[in-house]
Amino acid sequence: MNLEKKNKLSAKELEDLSFDDFDEVINPKPEDSDFDAIVEEAISRRGFMGGVLAFGGVATLGMATTALTPISAEAADNRFGFKAVAAGTDDGIVVPEGYNAHVAARWGDPLFSDVPEFDHETRGTAESQARAFGDNNDGMSLFSDKDGRQILVVNNEYTNRGVIWGNNPDGAWVSDDDINKGKAAQGLTAAELAEVDGKWQIVKDSPYNRRFTPDEPMDITGPARGHDMMKTNADPDGATVLGTFNNCGNGRTPWGTYLACEENFNGYFGSADPDSYEQDAAFKRYGISGKDRGYGWWKVDERFDVTKESNEANRHGYVTEVDPYDPTSKPKKRTALGRMKHENAEVVVNYDGRIVIYMGDDERGEFLYRYVSDGVYTEGGNTDDLMENGTISVAKFWGDGTGEWLALTPETTGMDEAMICIHTRQAGSIVGATTMDRPEWVASNPLRAEVYCALTNNKNRGVKPNAGGDATPVGGPNPREANKYGQIVRWWPSNGDHTADTYRWDLFVMAGNPTVHQDANGGSTNVTEGNMFNSPDGISFDEKGLLWIQTDGNYSNEEDFAGHGNNQMLIGDPATGEIRRFLVGPKEAEITGIAWSADRRTVFVGVQHPGERGEGHWPDGDGKTPRSAIVAIRRDDGAAIG
Ligand code: FEO
Ligand code: CA
Ligand code: CA
Ligand code: CA
Repeated sequence: MNLEKKNKLSAKELEDLSFDDFDEVINPKPEDSDFDAIVEEAISRRGFMGGVLAFGGVATLGMATTALTPISAEAADNRFGFKAVAAGTDDGIVVPEGYNAHVAARWGDPLFSDVPEFDHETRGTAESQARAFGDNNDGMSLFSDKDGRQILVVNNEYTNRGVIWGNNPDGAWVSDDDINKGKAAQGLTAAELAEVDGKWQIVKDSPYNRRFTPDEPMDITGPARGHDMMKTNADPDGATVLGTFNNCGNGRTPWGTYLACEENFNGYFGSADPDSYEQDAAFKRYGISGKDRGYGWWKVDERFDVTKESNEANRHGYVTEVDPYDPTSKPKKRTALGRMKHENAEVVVNYDGRIVIYMGDDERGEFLYRYVSDGVYTEGGNTDDLMENGTISVAKFWGDGTGEWLALTPETTGMDEAMICIHTRQAGSIVGATTMDRPEWVASNPLRAEVYCALTNNKNRGVKPNAGGDATPVGGPNPREANKYGQIVRWWPSNGDHTADTYRWDLFVMAGNPTVHQDANGGSTNVTEGNMFNSPDGISFDEKGLLWIQTDGNYSNEEDFAGHGNNQMLIGDPATGEIRRFLVGPKEAEITGIAWSADRRTVFVGVQHPGERGEGHWPDGDGKTPRSAIVAIRRDDGAAIG
């Protein structure tokens, strides 16, 4: 690793690295010796060079991929309720004929009437941002109060430096206010939404409106509360933490709370002198180093300076529970659900009332987890204990289409309960979990005991181990070397019991490009020239049992990705395997986050980081600052969707 070179990274070069590439730059695996190679690979992955990765032979699957069950075109049309849209590269939103879309809320929209409207020139201040809709919206849920008022809670995952600081000469922070604005743009937003003159918008000054910034006090709960590794100078009890940030996917509980899931929390910790800081093995596993990802928080807030506060990083990487109905409530960081780069938290009530929560850890070669509560949920009963006492397990997939959940306990790991919650990844390695192709969202079919997980891509599959040194062999649910397109795995818990130790699995889809590749990179049989895509990420079921699939992938539309166009949303039918494209997003955006209005007539879909590379100006148009936003989609005939 060339440290001198690493620290000469410009803001632009940092911007061009994905979260995972950033991790490899600051935390090189044994095979990485040349910084240039990492950056080059990152750039080629973005498609600017294209086609340079070789595939080491076609993977042999232990089972067939989804067998299509043919039904008539008319029956399929009826079930989907729309005709597929074509891939595209325009700077706008495309939805099927008979549907319409409008922007409901954008980054910087005021939550209160005394906050100025978004300023495209300055992009606001720390003060205005702290009381306005946050940036880079991701996972979200809608809640309905007793009067039918609609409360949106949404993650504001991160900021793109070149966008939020695009008014500065090289798209980097200059002043402390710049840094604090970036900080205030992250966390969560709660906002009441209402239809006014036929369009959804934020209800300014609603009592439900609230921002949860990285400075919001939260209780630390569960086994890690009070542990020595959770104690800091500012919190000697290890019981109260300020903030949550980099929340990606989300969850919602049957008792009406919101779950925010902290993902790439490591990139916020840094120091003024990164070279002189030596990470220990535990920080290495989580990618925490002396170099941050360019947010600069360590400069304005000592808890993010790893040379001044060594434990703050142990207090992030959790799932946080928020009560949207009580604007004065204090959020709870639920350490019992483990510490990792959480994607989402899919909550299922098992037939016996126990709560089961499925969670992916989104990093190359990390694991898929399941939490099972000790207690049972009863409607209206006390739910405090359900995410406090339970067991985390990690998935082991076998090549024959079966799998098992390996419990992480003091007996199986040799770690105490608090350490299992703080060093969950290490616990997973000890029991021999299956290294996965970046587990993103998990979604559970509401109609039967069947669960899906998007494995977005993994250029390291079969190439190098994960950050803990666990091997990443090609096979099982991760069948392609240097996997560039991603796949969706699904499993059926034994006897329909989500708490069972075993399951059966297959692949619902392997994404690919059948116009470029004739081998496994062409994708599974339900991928065609008409519906191809890459990098499935957000997945959610609607009430009909159809799977909505959102992508966060390569939008170059060239070489391996020719014909894929912009990131998109598709809908899959678990019964037949058919997948149809429902939406195409604007330039350089990811589509992520989905929620339905109480009457199901509107589906809200998130658009994250439009114009992240400077080519797009959605939604406000030419010359304007691009803004992440939530789009409301309805049918022209006003009928329910999904
Ligand atoms: Fe924030 Fe794994 O996506
Ligand atoms: Ca995601
Ligand atoms: Ca992703
Ligand atoms: Ca994202």
